[in-house]
Amino acid sequence: MEGVHEGQRGLLRRTGVPRRRVQGRQGQRGPGVREGSPPAGVPRVTTGRRLPDFPWDSLADHAAKARTHPGGVVDLSIGTPVDPVPDLVREALASVSDEPGYPTTHGTPALREAVVGSMARRYGVDGLDPAAVLPTIGSKELVAWLPTLLDLGPGDVVAIPALAYPTYEVGARLAGATPVRLADGEPAPAGTRLVWLNSPSNPTGRVQSAAALAQAVADARAVGAVVASDECYLALSWTATPVSVLRPEVSGGSPDGVLAVHSLSKSSSLAGYRAGFVTGDPALVASLLEVRKHAGMIVPRPVQAAMAAALSDDAHVAAQRSRYEARRAVLLPALEAAGFTVDHSEAGLYLWSTRGESAWDTVAWLADRGVLVAPGTFYGPTGDRHVRIALTASDERVAAAVDRLTA
Ligand SMILES: Cc1ncc(COP(=O)(O)O)c(C=O)c1O
Repeated sequence: MEGVHEGQRGLLRRTGVPRRRVQGRQGQRGPGVREGSPPAGVPRVTTGRRLPDFPWDSLADHAAKARTHPGGVVDLSIGTPVDPVPDLVREALASVSDEPGYPTTHGTPALREAVVGSMARRYGVDGLDPAAVLPTIGSKELVAWLPTLLDLGPGDVVAIPALAYPTYEVGARLAGATPVRLADGEPAPAGTRLVWLNSPSNPTGRVQSAAALAQAVADARAVGAVVASDECYLALSWTATPVSVLRPEVSGGSPDGVLAVHSLSKSSSLAGYRAGFVTGDPALVASLLEVRKHAGMIVPRPVQAAMAAALSDDAHVAAQRSRYEARRAVLLPALEAAGFTVDHSEAGLYLWSTRGESAWDTVAWLADRGVLVAPGTFYGPTGDRHVRIALTASDERVAAAVDRLTA
């Protein structure tokens, strides 16, 4: 546990005895259990974690409206890739489709070496130890389970950005911890055990400077919190250059207490494969590995091979980046011509846009034109006058949106 701050030691308590309670046993009704089922005497199990409502359900009426457009819906509400999986990745996947044995949780040496190489080449993060690399089943599962894997629980605070990818909050709640939204530059309060950073940001596309990130890392270390930096949009920047938390000017040259969380979903169009990884503090990664081995959180072997191939090739990432850049280049001016202001959006896959009215009014205005977007409120209360418009649609669909905006 060398290099782990005093306050972080508690996070490495191993999970021999589960903290969680099974709720609603012996006829007690937990939230979400429907009347009449199951019969009395049968144990009732609920998460009891007060998870937020799944926000996308509330878009259903607007989606139905948008689908009535004669030219068809242009769905810019979700950041799901639409471009082909690169051939070299598909070939690597197929090359190990006949491996009957269990894969290793830690990932093949080739995969971990490929991660180390890509972090150095693409982001200038040198000297990573391959042992401190751990593949994940996409990054969403790690985001959702990291507080639990770190053994956080009731009374622990998980700090998340004021406007944030919803799964940071979900992960805190799954662990029974308390999510706290921090305004820009606001230091993590005492009692914080985990701080999420996300630059480039979903939903705003904002890029934080190395100095701002370094300050956030210093503040987190001061209260003994782990820093998890979600860097899934790092390869997709337009007008600012994002940096990894593992760059020395951010981390101070030491990975102590710091994790970088990466995804191949966007940079390599591999959302369907579920391919991500976490790297950084060797003691923290070793601790995550230990729990994940017990829990069977294993990336399938063919996906490990596909990831190694994707991480060893930068040309397809550049090609994918160009596709998004071209879509952004037509959509952004069309939005401005239609009276929108696009804030931040220096990087990443979203245009954080406002018409100076409530987010839901803008969602409705766009749905009338057959364009579906997400209200900013999905990401935090301060998003109530913005909508998030994704660049993840085909060129043809983006052109249709541009036509409708400029008609
Ligand atoms: C900020 C952020 N983190 C993590 C994820 C999860 O990505 P994946 O699970 O596909 O790796 C997303 C997906 O949109 C995201 O926007």
